[in-house]
Amino acid sequence: MSWWAVVCLLLFAVTATTAQAQLPFNVPKPPPPTAAALFANHCGICHTIEPNSPPRQGPNLAGVFLRKPGILPGFHYSPGLSQADFVWDDAHLDAWLTDPQKLIPGALMRYRQADPAIRGKIIEWLKEQH
Ligand code: HEC
Repeated sequence: MSWWAVVCLLLFAVTATTAQAQLPFNVPKPPPPTAAALFANHCGICHTIEPNSPPRQGPNLAGVFLRKPGILPGFHYSPGLSQADFVWDDAHLDAWLTDPQKLIPGALMRYRQADPAIRGKIIEWLKEQH
């Protein structure tokens, strides 16, 4: 191996290790996602929460906390959801987000959240939007 190849290898090794060693100091940790961002990422593809905005795949969620399920005019709910006899309180929202079809057989919502921390954050945020 010629001397310049050795120098190049050494230089590469030194730069690579220094760069790696400095990484934790140079790159700030990303902040945990806000509840609004969680809603946007987990629910926003199917739901809006702006009052009077049109439904997406799912109904508009403005004012959903403590409302009866399945009552927004103009949205075609599953029969189970439109006949449900409860209000969207913490417990029902938590059960719904965990497994919609377990709470209401035949429910049309294709989403499940196994992480109670994420469910809790989103439910708290829904309440604040009330
Ligand atoms: C893949 C699309 C999709 C995603 C993602 C989704 N939903 Fe839904 N959601 C629906 C559909 C469709 C319905 C109507 C279900 C039915 O009629 O059975 C619904 C219904 C609901 C209802 C009942 C509304 C009412 O008027 O009674 C609530 C509450 C709800 N979703 C909350 C959420 C939340 C909170 C999230 C995010 C954590 C979420 N959904 C994610 C599609 C989705």
